[in-house]
Amino acid sequence: MKTITTVLELQNLIRSYMDNGRTVGFAPTMGALHNGHMALMNASAAENDITVCSIFVNPTQFNESSDLEKYPRTLDKDQKLLKNNKVDIVFAPHTTEVYPEDLDTTLSIDFNGLDSEMEGEFRPGHFAGVAQVVKRLVDIVTPDNLYMGQKDFQQFSIIQYMLNHIDSKTKLRVVPIIRESNGLAMSSRNMRLSASMKETAKEIYKVLKYVKRNKYRENARNLESYAMQRLAKTDGFKPEYFTIADGYTLQKIDRVKDSEYAVACTAVWAEGVRLIDNIILRKPRKMDIFVK
Ligand code: PAF
Repeated sequence: MKTITTVLELQNLIRSYMDNGRTVGFAPTMGALHNGHMALMNASAAENDITVCSIFVNPTQFNESSDLEKYPRTLDKDQKLLKNNKVDIVFAPHTTEVYPEDLDTTLSIDFNGLDSEMEGEFRPGHFAGVAQVVKRLVDIVTPDNLYMGQKDFQQFSIIQYMLNHIDSKTKLRVVPIIRESNGLAMSSRNMRLSASMKETAKEIYKVLKYVKRNKYRENARNLESYAMQRLAKTDGFKPEYFTIADGYTLQKIDRVKDSEYAVACTAVWAEGVRLIDNIILRKPRKMDIFVK
C-alpha cells in the first residue's frame, strides 16, 4: 500500500495502472476509519483491480469551525487499518493540493431541492461543500467506480445527481449501513459517545425498524410523529428530524405505498454528538447502485 500526498504523484500512478487496463475503485473519507469504511474498501476491492482511499477532512463542508477542529484525525491508525483491508493507495493530501489557489473548484449546481430538506435544513452549505470536494477528488482520481455509504443517504443521492449532471463516467456504488452489534449505525462520531449512550443509541435503529414494519399501516405523518415522540422520550436524546421521503426527490411523501423508492431518515443529538441514520422502506428491483 502506498500513501501519497500530492495530486501529481497520485495521477501518475493511477495513469500507469489505467494504461495497463486496470480498473480503479475510489472511496473518499475524512479518516477516523471504522468497519463501516472497511465495507467500502472491501466492496471496491471486490469490484476493481485497484482501490484508492482518500483521507481528507474537508473544510468546506463544515458549518461550524469548532466541529471542523473537533473532527478526529487518526492518520497512523487509519493507514494500518487500510493496509489490512486490500487498499492499494491512500491519498492524504494537504488542503492546498485539493484547493490550490490558482484553481477554481467551486461548483454551481442546482440540486433541485435534494439539498434543502433534512440535513440541508440544519446544515446550510454542507452539501455544496461535499459536492465540491467529491467532484474535485473524482476529477483527480478518475475512478471507474465511486464507493459511498448508505448511512449518508442524502449525501450519496446528491453525489449521484452531481455525477449525472456533469455526465461523469464514474459509477456510484452504495454500500449498505454497517451497524454495531446493538444496531447503532457505525460512525466516526460514535467514539465521542459514552459507553452507556452507545447502548441507549440502539433505540434509533429500533424506531427505524418499527417504522418499516408499519409502513403500509399508517400514513407517513403519523409514523413521523410517533418516531419523533419515541426518540424525544429516550433519555439524553434530542431528535432533530424524522422524515419519510421519496428516495429519488427526497421530498416528504404522505404514503409509503405511493413511492416505488422510499426512505426514512433521522438525525438525533446525544451527548453533543449528532447521529444520523436511515432505513430504506421501499426500493425498486431494477436499482443497481446498491452493492449487495
Ligand atoms: O462522508 C464523508 O466522510 C465526507 O462527506 C466525504 C464524502 C468524504 C466528503 O468529504
